[in-house]
Amino acid sequence: MITVSSLTDLRKARKKLCEPVGFVPTMGYLHEGHISLVRRAKSECRSVVVSIYVNPSQFGPHEDFEKYPRNLEGDIALLEKAGVDLLWTPTNACMYPPGYQTWIDVEKLSQPLEGALRPGHFRGVATIVAKLFNCVQPQKAYFGQKDAQQAAIICQMTEDLNFPIDIVVCPTVREKDGLAMSSRNCYLTQEQRSAAKVMVQALDLARQLFEQGERQTAPLVEIVQHTVEQQTGVILQYAACVDPKTFLPMDTITDQALLLIAIQTGDTRLIDNIELTVAPVAG
Ligand code: PAF
Repeated sequence: MITVSSLTDLRKARKKLCEPVGFVPTMGYLHEGHISLVRRAKSECRSVVVSIYVNPSQFGPHEDFEKYPRNLEGDIALLEKAGVDLLWTPTNACMYPPGYQTWIDVEKLSQPLEGALRPGHFRGVATIVAKLFNCVQPQKAYFGQKDAQQAAIICQMTEDLNFPIDIVVCPTVREKDGLAMSSRNCYLTQEQRSAAKVMVQALDLARQLFEQGERQTAPLVEIVQHTVEQQTGVILQYAACVDPKTFLPMDTITDQALLLIAIQTGDTRLIDNIELTVAPVAG
């Protein structure tokens, strides 16, 4: 694996890669979820590029930018083992030089849910991902379904800005007990880690209700709310059933919906979601 930091070195190394190039943008502190994206990219592309950059512009002033976990040595070992061709670790000077003033705002999709709780977050995400795309010029880029709203925003931005890139959204990778993998899970104390499982339990109960035939979203959202409220040490930030394309709330599920949840335990926010799909009627 070649590791580069400057844009000049990235461009030189990129020119030598066989196409199609698959790209996995990350903020590092990699786990099995990231590696599953790399594996998918390797199965579909002749070369794989990964970036590691903790993007300051997607963190709010009181968020965890400073303490966001970092472990470049460990990440490099994992990426080497996974067979990545090129790792890019851009610097702040390259991404946001003095005088920087261009931002990308995916207007509607960025407003609800995570966007409402984290003002400016998706503007930072869309901007950095567009910049990374411009520099790496991949044919395909890979994102996790756990960050469903982020993935939808990146799909919209890619289409709106005419990037010739296929966005591939890959399934959430979970711990043995079902908790979605996240770099932020390392913040959790043992008690918080155990309490956080309620997210999965709540989503599972809603899924069961849906599988029993419930198509109104209110009872699905209520069961999530009620389940989380029973758990000490966890605050529900939102539970919502939305249209997967618009992220607007829906009353009745006729085809597909996303059921999303965000909780806070201690200082840590965690998110998760499940897809609810109405099976087509046979015949
Ligand atoms: O999901 C992430 O790790 C980040 O939001 C991303 C897409 C790498 C942009 O900084």
